[in-house]
Amino acid sequence: MTSEAKNTLRHIAIIMDGNGRWATKKGLPRSAGHKKGAEAVKAVTRAAGELGIEYLTLYAFSTENWQRSPEEVNTLMDLLRDYLKSDLKEVQDNGVRIRFIGERDMLAPDIVENMKKLEAETAGNMKMTLCIALSYGSRHEIVNAARKIAMLAKRGDILPEDVDIKMFSDMLYTKDIPDPDLVIRSSGEQRVSNYLLWQIAYSELYFSPVLWPDFDKETLEAIIKDFNRRERRYGKA
Ligand code: FPP
Repeated sequence: MTSEAKNTLRHIAIIMDGNGRWATKKGLPRSAGHKKGAEAVKAVTRAAGELGIEYLTLYAFSTENWQRSPEEVNTLMDLLRDYLKSDLKEVQDNGVRIRFIGERDMLAPDIVENMKKLEAETAGNMKMTLCIALSYGSRHEIVNAARKIAMLAKRGDILPEDVDIKMFSDMLYTKDIPDPDLVIRSSGEQRVSNYLLWQIAYSELYFSPVLWPDFDKETLEAIIKDFNRRERRYGKA
């Protein structure tokens, strides 16, 4: 192992930010930024597969994003519809398992149908897991987990002392997905915005100045190089 590759990197989680600013800078409507952003999603997913990443989690739409203008929400939902119908076909054919995390009951029924179908059809794929956070908010996820545990306790199925980190993790949408090793946010903003709050307890964070529509394989490779130079101690000396 070279000093350039000393850290285990199984799971990268990305906050794809900067579509709007990319479009504004070019004098284009925000929808053009989202469209170009969807292209970057394809390129980066392909790159992650080529670089041997086992899990890639992308923040496609947050629970807070529902508060954007109806026009922008519609643009994003239409892009997602297209993405689920056609773009994920390529991904699926390349041996990628697809998972969705988030509040499904807020999404249109046709979108939810397609999500279920993709998850079922790709369940046996082993090359990489692409996890798409859709209508996702970490605080909702954690509260839902607490509710499930409270229900089990109320029914007498568990005792309070049975609740531990493993049980709690298993109640989250990300059950069976290892925690991210690296979280990347594009566009220079330095926030985690309700993304995988439980799961990123020990993740390395990287804030890239690149606006999401310009994010490509080279950007990802440079970030991985930086990650490999870091020393991860998990709270140990
Ligand atoms: C943020 O840019 C981006 C999002 C709202 C989520 C990511 C969406 C995409 C990449 C497009 C569609 C996705 C798929 C999977 C097809 P922003 O609008 O917040 O940018 P700004 O901060 O510059 O306004």
